[in-house]
Order: sequence, then structure tokens, then C-alpha cells
Amino acid sequence: MDSPYSLFRVGASLLLHTPDPTGQTIITGANVENASYPVGTCAERVAMGTAIHLGHKLGSFKAIGVATDMDEFCSPCGMCRQFLREFLALDVPVFMFNKKGGFIVRSMGELLPLSFGPDVLPPKEQLRKNLNEEELKGAGVQ
Ligand code: THU
Repeated sequence: MDSPYSLFRVGASLLLHTPDPTGQTIITGANVENASYPVGTCAERVAMGTAIHLGHKLGSFKAIGVATDMDEFCSPCGMCRQFLREFLALDVPVFMFNKKGGFIVRSMGELLPLSFGPDVLPPKEQLRKNLNEEELKGAGVQ
């Protein structure tokens, strides 16, 4: 694991409720940096992107751990919180580790209160119906 620009190395691990077909129960990721700094990706999004690519989904995850080799605990950035919230139930624990193996833990919902997620969007059918009704109104049809 290399973080050539920030020298801040982060690892993320997703614990699955049940092993996948290969017997794996943990999916990992590390931050991947880029010469164009903002293009780099955090460890959490690399791990979650890998998990989703492998077919895991909301309900698959028991916990997530985020670790650095620093004295401080590493807590997911704002963008990662939103990204994770799409796939982690709000009661899923997020363990944040420091280099000594000490940790603090908060639930996904605690890290992102009053969050916006797929469950907040009305069903597609409802959205389509609203759109249709508005179009009909705009066209002067009652
Ligand atoms: N980083 C993560 O991978 N996860 C976090 O939760 C915070 C920050 C990365 C992004 C960048 O590669 C480096 O740490 C410094 O910000």
C-alpha cells in the first residue's frame, strides 16, 4: 500500500455477514492517489466499490473498519460517508483504528445523521406518475 503524495496510508475492510463463493468474509481497499491530487480515491470507496462489483449489496455488510498508521483515529471523509451510506444499513458499526490498534466505533447513522439515501427517494413508479401528471397539467389536460 503506497500513498505517494499524501504519505497518509489508509486501509478499509468490509466484513460480510456470510462468506462469498470463494470463502472470503473480508473485502479490503486502500487509498489510491493520483498526480492530479483530487482524482485520488479513499480506501473506503475502493473497498466498497470492489464489494459492489463482486455482487454484494445493502444487507451484505456486518461492519467496516478504517485504519491508518497514525496516532489519530481515521474517520471517513464526508464524501465516503455518503458513498458508504448507500450500501451500509444505518446501524452498521464503523470501526476507526489508529496505529496502536486502538479504536473508536460509531454507527453509520451516527456518522451521517439525517442522511439522504435510496430509501428516501419515492418509488420510481411514484416519481414517473408525478412527472406525467405535471406534464399533463403543463399541456392543459386536467
Ligand atoms: N483518506 C482515506 O483513504 N480515507 C479517509 O477516511 C480519509 C482520507 C485518504 C485520501 C488521501 O489519499 C489521503 O488519505 C490524505 O487525505
